[in-house]
Amino acid sequence: KLDKLWGGRFSESTHRLMEEFSESVSYDRALYEQDIRGSMAHARMLADQGVIPAEDAKAICRGLEQVKQEIEAGEFVWKTEFEDVHMNIESRLTEIVGEAGKKLHTGRSRNDQVALDFRLYVADRLENWRKAIAALVSALADQAELHRKTILPGCTHFQPAQPVALAHHLLAYATMLMRDEERITDCLKRVRVSPLGAAALAGTTYPIDPERSAKELNLHETFANSMDAVSDRDFAVEAVFCGSLVMAHLSRLAEEIIIWANPNFGFVKLPDAFATGSSIMPQKKNPDSAELVRGKTGRVYGALMSLLTVVKGLPMAYNRDLQEDKEPFFDADSTVSGSLGIMAGLVSELDFQADAMLKALDKGFVNATELADYLAARGVPFREAHHASGRAVALAESKGCGLEALSLEELQAIAPAVEPDVYEVLDYANCVARRKAPGGTGPDSVALQLGEVEKWLFIR
Ligand code: ARG
Repeated sequence: KLDKLWGGRFSESTHRLMEEFSESVSYDRALYEQDIRGSMAHARMLADQGVIPAEDAKAICRGLEQVKQEIEAGEFVWKTEFEDVHMNIESRLTEIVGEAGKKLHTGRSRNDQVALDFRLYVADRLENWRKAIAALVSALADQAELHRKTILPGCTHFQPAQPVALAHHLLAYATMLMRDEERITDCLKRVRVSPLGAAALAGTTYPIDPERSAKELNLHETFANSMDAVSDRDFAVEAVFCGSLVMAHLSRLAEEIIIWANPNFGFVKLPDAFATGSSIMPQKKNPDSAELVRGKTGRVYGALMSLLTVVKGLPMAYNRDLQEDKEPFFDADSTVSGSLGIMAGLVSELDFQADAMLKALDKGFVNATELADYLAARGVPFREAHHASGRAVALAESKGCGLEALSLEELQAIAPAVEPDVYEVLDYANCVARRKAPGGTGPDSVALQLGEVEKWLFIR
């Protein structure tokens, strides 16, 4: 009982069940690097402010450096009795440097300490997400570049609608992901706020300088209110929300790849490296990578729900409930990071089948709108033009061909305004090319979009 850092007022030891139930060191040891960085900044600040002697701060930093090496060499002995990463490190520090180690916690509480460590950790991971998103955007842009001229049936209601450039389709995903990256960058503003100096909840009587430690830790702001500082986990909720939206977007892309890889579509051939086989059906090549990304999306949504529920209804200020903030974030982080990496690898190796896409265009009558617009441009009221084009579709369907395969006589029998130039209008590539308006699927717009994506990638 005496070896607990908080054991002074206790006369009986912790029940084994309680120790196991309340420990967090089994997972929060992931924060060791941030904990050590934070403690060094705190010790130096204390020395600068004359709260502890400079030699003590030096000894503390030297000791913490050793602790870090021990951890990274796998020699550090993590003890459940010491509850969490913070007390494990502090105890070992004191073993190494003696008296000086006991001064580290001056003007600090585990409440501001853990909030700081977690913020530093989340910030590090979000920077990683940003990089992983950029890598996926780059893979999408490379494929888009290759497939500026490839055309496929664009869908609404998952029914063939109008022809679009594959590049345009892929850049829609790049656009979502760039938005995600910007959302994360914005979230980082609120993550990079230092709670150090809030102490337990009320602030401290020591003449500390929160700005100084914040600066050393690359945090651009300090807390405004000590009670909020120790109990605020908005940054983690927001980070996991950002991750949830990333997963929503990845799951949409995953779903399309899964559908496209079905031989009945045959729009894409999966790379061996990101597919798996079946133990019974020899012909199978399954899109497990994409399926797992789609499936893992739920985990991240679950983490978001967990975090929102943990913070709900908490009275001021720190409550132990908040220890439940880390595992959901860790799980969300490994899922988001892993999914982004897999999708970047998968996308860059997808082998798109332009011929199969072209064939699919025939089945979808995706140029029916063009025919209606063509008639309308020749003075047929749009409602009538729409109806005539619909009848042409019915005729083509009964003959098992596309609109462009109907003869001029057949088309004229339905709509006398049709002239031989109708076939140019019905041409799929022309359908795409004529969509010149900004943000549309036309080649100029796609080139512009690609240019913007390249610029975006360049400054990252
Ligand atoms: N392991 C704790 C957590 O993650 C650290 C803070 C504990 N503070 C306390 N007063 N018990 O939240």
